Amino acid sequence: MRFSASYLKDYCERLMTARGVDADCAATVADMLLDAELTGVSTHGVSRLAIYLERVERGLVSRHNEARIVRESPSALAIDAGNSLGAVGAKFAMEACVRKARETGCCFATVKNSNHFGAAAYYTRMAAEADMIGFCCTNLTAKIAPHGAAEPFMGTDPISVAVPSDGASVVLDMTPSVVALGKLILAQKLGKEIPLGWALDKDGNPTTDPAAGRAGSLIPIGGPKGSGLALMVEVLSGILSGAGTATHLHDLYEFDAPQGVGHFMGAIDVSKFLDLDAFRAGVAAMSGEIKGLKRAEGVDEVMLPGERSARSAAQKAVDGIDVPEAVCAELNAMGQPYGMKLEEA
Ligand SMILES: NC(=O)c1ccc[n+]([C@@H]2O[C@H](COP(=O)([O-])OP(=O)(O)OC[C@H]3O[C@@H](n4cnc5c(N)ncnc54)[C@H](O)[C@@H]3O)[C@@H](O)[C@H]2O)c1
Repeated sequence: MRFSASYLKDYCERLMTARGVDADCAATVADMLLDAELTGVSTHGVSRLAIYLERVERGLVSRHNEARIVRESPSALAIDAGNSLGAVGAKFAMEACVRKARETGCCFATVKNSNHFGAAAYYTRMAAEADMIGFCCTNLTAKIAPHGAAEPFMGTDPISVAVPSDGASVVLDMTPSVVALGKLILAQKLGKEIPLGWALDKDGNPTTDPAAGRAGSLIPIGGPKGSGLALMVEVLSGILSGAGTATHLHDLYEFDAPQGVGHFMGAIDVSKFLDLDAFRAGVAAMSGEIKGLKRAEGVDEVMLPGERSARSAAQKAVDGIDVPEAVCAELNAMGQPYGMKLEEA
């Protein structure tokens, strides 16, 4: 079924408030989920609402914004999210970083006692829209095996950096594993094998069986390099925040305890380093030069980080968002007790 972004966002927001989530928290989470849908990251879109709400119902996530600053200096913040919904604590942190960076030139924040926050680019784009460079990463339960290890230690810890430009913002948002776990889940659902190089089984052997890969670990990009990136996310999001590293966290899909994940994010005010116009023009010029380079064989267009997402958002804002039947059924089932049902425009 196809819906406009505003209709779907309103539906998600009403579902959350019907379940007792505070209106401001519901608005933040719905906005983040719809942003993921628009930018083509539907794995982190409305299909996640069911698990977020189930955790709320089970008392594993707060219905309120409990985020508070526990330590503050001119350009550093330590935030305790108080087990708020992930997007609530993360947005609170990035807004505070942008506000303080206007004064000091940059501000970075750690966040602990948080939850799954969706796509990292949602937060870095907040900084880019304020003409700052945004940085964001988060940890989560162990899924990636460190290079040379036969079992997981780091999460599929995404890293995002967004920079403003006279053209479209350049937005990198990536996990340090060769593929996201979602690709294994999908392959298993479709009864397909996965290519060698995606995952290891529980004994550390390369596997083409998605179920064995899920029971084992994901392989980092570029061997020790991707492994090192994920490890540094664990240091920033896990150790520096006090949240703890991946093996000490709790899984989004298990109901034993609050997830307890940590984030690390920040904003750098471009104008404190260089005239904003010069920076924006410089990024636009670099982007143009890259796009004008000779293309490799079989490539139609050289793309920049975030370009596909920006195009997807522009297209879907006009055409609407397609939601798979199974996800519609889930959203309808959640709405049924409140007389809510999705209707195509
Ligand atoms: N909250 C969490 O716990 C969590 C965990 C893991 C992943 N995620 C999210 O999952 C999403 C997907 O991550 P991913 O690593 O699978 O992303 P991906 O592989 O689709 O893209 C990674 C990066 O490569 C860029 N890119 C892709 N194709 C390109 C091309 N042809 N040319 C130039 N650049 C290109 C993208 O713009 C992006 O910046 C992210 O939004 C991430 O934040 C969230």
